[in-house]
Amino acid sequence: MAILIERIRNDIEFINQFNATPEKGVTRLTFSDEYRGATAHVVEEMQKLNAQISYCRGGNVRARLIGTDDHGPAVMMGSHLDTVVNGGRYDGVVGVVAAMEAARSIVEDNIAHRLPIDVVVFAEEEGSRFNRGLLGSSVWTGKLNSSYLADIQDAANISYPEAMRQAGFELNDDALLEPSNLRAMLEVHIEQGLVLEKRGCRLGLVEAIAGIRHFDVTLKGRADHAGTTPMEDRADALQAAALIISAVEEIALQIGDNTVATVGRIASMPGQNNVVPGRVTFSLDIRNADQIILNTAVTTITNKIKTVCATRGLEYEITPLGSAEPVTLSVEIVDLLEAKARERNIESLRMVSGAGHDSALLADLTQTGMIFVPSQGGRSHCPEEFTSLEDIGLGCEMLLSAALELSA
Ligand code: HGY
Ligand code: MN
Ligand code: MN
Repeated sequence: MAILIERIRNDIEFINQFNATPEKGVTRLTFSDEYRGATAHVVEEMQKLNAQISYCRGGNVRARLIGTDDHGPAVMMGSHLDTVVNGGRYDGVVGVVAAMEAARSIVEDNIAHRLPIDVVVFAEEEGSRFNRGLLGSSVWTGKLNSSYLADIQDAANISYPEAMRQAGFELNDDALLEPSNLRAMLEVHIEQGLVLEKRGCRLGLVEAIAGIRHFDVTLKGRADHAGTTPMEDRADALQAAALIISAVEEIALQIGDNTVATVGRIASMPGQNNVVPGRVTFSLDIRNADQIILNTAVTTITNKIKTVCATRGLEYEITPLGSAEPVTLSVEIVDLLEAKARERNIESLRMVSGAGHDSALLADLTQTGMIFVPSQGGRSHCPEEFTSLEDIGLGCEMLLSAALELSA
C-alpha cells in the first residue's frame, strides 16, 4: 500500500495554480473558472484509474472505484476545493488530494475491496460565492431541497444552478445520499487550530463537530445629512451596529465553554463620509459543539439586537443563512483510526472540531470519521495556512487503511 508523497505535493501545487488571487493567498469560488480547473484535475486523475465520474445532486463531483459488490453501499472519502477569499492552500484541498492518492494506491496495488470507494468533491463548502456554507453537502444529503438552489444567487445575481451550468457541471446523478447507499464517510482535513501543534501530536481524531448558525442582520435607521443633523436626532444604523457588534464579543466571552461568535462582514449604506448611515447589514457566525449552549448564544445575541434597536427606534431584520447542527462522529471509526495510529506508533488525539465540515452533514446518515493533520501556528483561512507534506502523507495513509477496512 504505497502512497507517493510526491504525487500529493504535485496535486496540491497543481490544484492551487487555479487561484483568482495569486498575489494574496488562494481564492477559488465554487463553479468559477478556477474551480472548474481544480475539479477537472481531480476528474482527469480519477479517470486514469477508470473511476466512474458523476456530477451529483448539489453540484458535488464523485469518482467511484467499483468494488466486487458494485451495488453495495459506498465508502466515501473527500472534502472540498472551494476556498474563502484570500484563503490558504490546504483547507479542503488536503482532504481531496489524500482521497485521490489513496484511490491511486488501491488501483495501482490492485487491492481488492468489496464495496465501492468514492472520491468526492463537495461544492460550496465555504459559502464564499453564494453566502451559504456546506451547501453542496446540505443538498446532496437532503437537508436542503435542491429546488431552493434556484433562489440562491451570487453577488452578480447568477443563480447556483446557472453557475453550475456555466461551469459545465451537467448533473448526471440526482440521487440523494441515504443510509442505504452509504457505508461510511471519511474526511482528512487540516485542524485549523493550535491543539495538535501544542500537544506535539500529528493526528487528530474528531469526535464531534461544532454546530454553526449563520445570519445576516440588517438594521434600518435613517440616512441624514452628516453636517446638519444634531446627534440627538439621528437614527444612525452604524452606531447601533457598533453597540451590537461589541456586545457579540462580550456575550461569547460571558457564555464561554468554547462559544465563538464572529462578525466577518459589514456593509454600511449609503457608505459616504457626509451621510449618516441609514442601513447596515452585517454577518453573524455563532458556534458551539453543545446544542443548548449554541441556542443560548443565538438567543442572547438576538435579544441584544432587539433591545438596541428598540432603544434607538430602528427596525431590524435577522435572516438565517444556513446552519449545521452540532454532531458527534462515529465512535467505531474513532476507535478504528486510533488502533491504526497505535499500530504505527503514532500518538493520536481525540478532539472536537470548532470548524464546520461537510462530514457534519453525513454524520446522521452513515458512520463518519475525520482525520485532522496539524496546522502550523494554528493558522487557517489566510495565506499563512500551512501543513507539512509529511503530516498530509500520514493522514493519507490512515485514510487509505481505514477506507480499505470499511470497504472489505
Ligand atoms: O467555516 C468553517 O468552519 C469552514 O471552514 N467552512
Ligand atoms: Mn474553511
Ligand atoms: Mn474546510
